Amino acid sequence: MTLDDTLLPILYMLAAMGFILAIKWLGSPATARRGVVVGEIGMLIAVVATLLRFEVVNYQWILVAFFLGAAVGIPIAYKMPMTAVPQRTAFSHACGALASALIGTAEYYKGLTQGGLTKVVMIALIIETLLGFLTFTASMMAFGKLQEVLAQRPITFKGQNFLNLGVFAVAAGIGVALIVSPEQTVLFPLFAALALLFGVLLIIPIGGADMPTVIALLNSYAGLSAAAMGFVLNNKLLIVAGALDGSSGFILAIIMCRAMNRSFSNVLFGAFGQLQTTAAAAGEAKPVHSASAEEAAQILDSARNVVVIPGYGMAVAQAQHKLKEMFELLTRRGVDVRFAIHPVAGRMPGHMNVLLAEADVPYDKLWEMDDINPEMSNVDVALIIGANDVVNPGAETDPHSAIAGMPIIQAYKARTVMVIKRSMNPGFAGIDNELYYRDNTLMLFGDAKAFLSSIVKELGALAKV
Ligand code: TAP
Repeated sequence: MTLDDTLLPILYMLAAMGFILAIKWLGSPATARRGVVVGEIGMLIAVVATLLRFEVVNYQWILVAFFLGAAVGIPIAYKMPMTAVPQRTAFSHACGALASALIGTAEYYKGLTQGGLTKVVMIALIIETLLGFLTFTASMMAFGKLQEVLAQRPITFKGQNFLNLGVFAVAAGIGVALIVSPEQTVLFPLFAALALLFGVLLIIPIGGADMPTVIALLNSYAGLSAAAMGFVLNNKLLIVAGALDGSSGFILAIIMCRAMNRSFSNVLFGAFGQLQTTAAAAGEAKPVHSASAEEAAQILDSARNVVVIPGYGMAVAQAQHKLKEMFELLTRRGVDVRFAIHPVAGRMPGHMNVLLAEADVPYDKLWEMDDINPEMSNVDVALIIGANDVVNPGAETDPHSAIAGMPIIQAYKARTVMVIKRSMNPGFAGIDNELYYRDNTLMLFGDAKAFLSSIVKELGALAKV
């Protein structure tokens, strides 16, 4: 009996339990912090247990990699703004996928000389390297578009889908040939190059704005690659962790597509970003009602209930702490304040939840879209902060809108609607919002944080009267 037969399975089981509980608890803002901690503990157990395996005979290169990784990872974690999370996620998928692909490559060449490339191992190895290489380049492209190192706009050309599928089919065909006879070593570099090329081609037609959904999908591919690696290395924990990653990424991508009323094929092949500028350009100047911070504070102060609808602009302005101050002042003055969260408000899943949790807004004040909508006609004030598409009634009324059919928070049903944003510029979908021109809508022009600061000051003054 070795350590590998006794302690290791128990540690791996504990780590797997940690991952499963983490995913469960991450599903609600009330338990998300616990989910993060248990996931981290699970990963620590997994890493320590793996380092104890008898195959690990020398720690010096592992330590070098550990310190190098920490030197890159720690500053990123501390310095990166919340709005950059999508590209950071893309970057970490790229690293994970590359690691998986390189391990697969090393196992292939090792297997050629030392034996062990059975059919089952070769099938897993080909899946691992195919997904690993394509996810690496696709994630780096996604990173580049989101970080604006590469042009965000989708690039399309005639026969593009045909070319993409052709490249994938040839790569898959070579993969099958390698499974049948692994000793055709000349094919492996070609296979890897085509997989890398396919990753680039896959992202070229996708607009920067659709990238978060694509990243969830790439997360899924990276997870499946890791699960396949588990079969190659005969590591059960990798199979469990990879399968969890693969399925949760896929489910997340489905949820995001549903919340935007888009299909996978539309996200992957629809070149959505192209619609934006044309649709925005079509908008003409129409009159709107605007108000000052003083007027807004008075309206809020005399309301019985207020629903705050945050969006991407709140994240950009980092206005969540000022919002919390406003929430406290109004609550103290007897106003019932709730927060309505749209599933795709902002630019990443849970974006608004994370920001509001950071500002310590009580979880029981956060309402999901489906729960708040039936209540909206009884709401005195809907206060929209840097949100645009997620409250655009055009999604319900205009079948030709770029967001037609997307479920929205029905702010328009409230007695008074107030919108904090800097200009009449459109949001992510690049389209005009007819809500701004309605008689019961007041535009509060300004940066979200600055405007909320002014409202807080005015509310403070009212409290002294
Ligand atoms: P958007 O529709 O993108 O609108 C954001 C608004 O914030 C803009 O109109 C902008 O107007 C305003 N803004 C920007 N900076 C601001 C600041 N400093 N202060 C005040 N306002 C500011 O945002 P949304 O309503 O949250 O909708 C999200 C969109 O992203 C949806 O279309 C969704 O489908 C898409 N999307 C979301 C996700 C996820 S997972 N969340 C993933 C992919 C795509 P001004 O420039 O006039 O200020």
